[in-house]
Amino acid sequence: MSLALQTRPDFPILERRVNGRPLIYLDSAASSQKPRQVIEAVKLYYERSHANVHRSIHTLGEEATALLETARDSVKEFIGAEHREEIVFTRGTTDAINLVAQAVGRAFAPGDEVIVTEMEHHSNLIPWQILARDRSVKLKAVPIVAEGFLDLDAFDRLFTERTRLVALTHVSNVLGTINPVGKIVARCRRAGSLVLVDGAQAVPHLSVNVARLAPDFYVFSGHKMLGPTGIGVLYGRREVLEGLEPAWGGGEMIKEVWLDRAQWNELPWRFEPGTPPIAPAVGLGAAVEYLGKLGMERVLAHEQELTRLCLDRLGALEEVTLYGPRNPEIKGAVVAFNVKGWHPHDGAALLDQDGIAVRAGHHCAMPLMRKLGIVGTLRASFSVFNTPEEIEVLARSVANLKFQL
Ligand code: ALA
Repeated sequence: MSLALQTRPDFPILERRVNGRPLIYLDSAASSQKPRQVIEAVKLYYERSHANVHRSIHTLGEEATALLETARDSVKEFIGAEHREEIVFTRGTTDAINLVAQAVGRAFAPGDEVIVTEMEHHSNLIPWQILARDRSVKLKAVPIVAEGFLDLDAFDRLFTERTRLVALTHVSNVLGTINPVGKIVARCRRAGSLVLVDGAQAVPHLSVNVARLAPDFYVFSGHKMLGPTGIGVLYGRREVLEGLEPAWGGGEMIKEVWLDRAQWNELPWRFEPGTPPIAPAVGLGAAVEYLGKLGMERVLAHEQELTRLCLDRLGALEEVTLYGPRNPEIKGAVVAFNVKGWHPHDGAALLDQDGIAVRAGHHCAMPLMRKLGIVGTLRASFSVFNTPEEIEVLARSVANLKFQL
């Protein structure tokens, strides 16, 4: 049975109609839909086990703590981390990157350098801009070339003895480019710089093994991988997290407190001040269990097939311009495109009339849009429940746009 046929009954939202048409949801890169298994896990948690964690010595407090910590173990297994202390729950990718920027940035001196890339989402750019402004750190960007690949020679030239950290996306949320993060991580580790990988568009679609990849930090969001909103993960290598001062303070991240000082808690709680997003973490645990059962190799193969079909069908239309690599084997589950004569927002509004949800705009990547010389794009993105038939409907609707000019 195809992956879509198997999974579609699990997604209640797919029963909806939009503008009188069956919903065709092609916006999972912005936020994916949720299977019943995730919705039920969150519901059951609130109905049966909710209490605060790590503090209440009563049955519900113990149950909630166990559920939160079990979710941490599931995430650890899913991304192949070696230690549970390396999994810090955050509110999302953006929160995780800000946490790292605050925590590591304190030790940076004026003139130190951070390298990003021209294809970064704002979430992996603005936190470094703030750090650059506050600590007189120099921010450099690796240019992109050709269909949207990183210029690795330029990266080598940009890298100096002042480079303290490299922050790059694993998979571009616009171009879909899968970056050679293994090579880049190895380069940074050899040279003694820190490296952060934004895996928000990778973890939902590829099999990621952080122990093998060995970055210092790897971050991602729950809501793009069939999990709830309000939860993300900061994976940090244990040796790195151990040497790091917390970014933010509050309850839970301490062991002992005096009026004028405090002793920090053990990992990972040292980086989780306040009441954590317990229910979203429980939902994320259910999401990784769901994806794990499907098998990430199967998920990848299914989404590559959809990407290939989408590139073929849209690429065959004269009025369509495609962005990013044309080879689906080196591309994530997104296809960005423009249609001659249409502003992306107007194009998306018309596709919505056909029940098709795509994202349109700058995709939180304005420097990339500037580099491409465009205001924005339309973007179709895929998940486990999408079918080839949905791509055919998209292609027909896009083809019809020219008759509506
Ligand atoms: N980062 C999300 C996207 O690319 C919101 O759509």
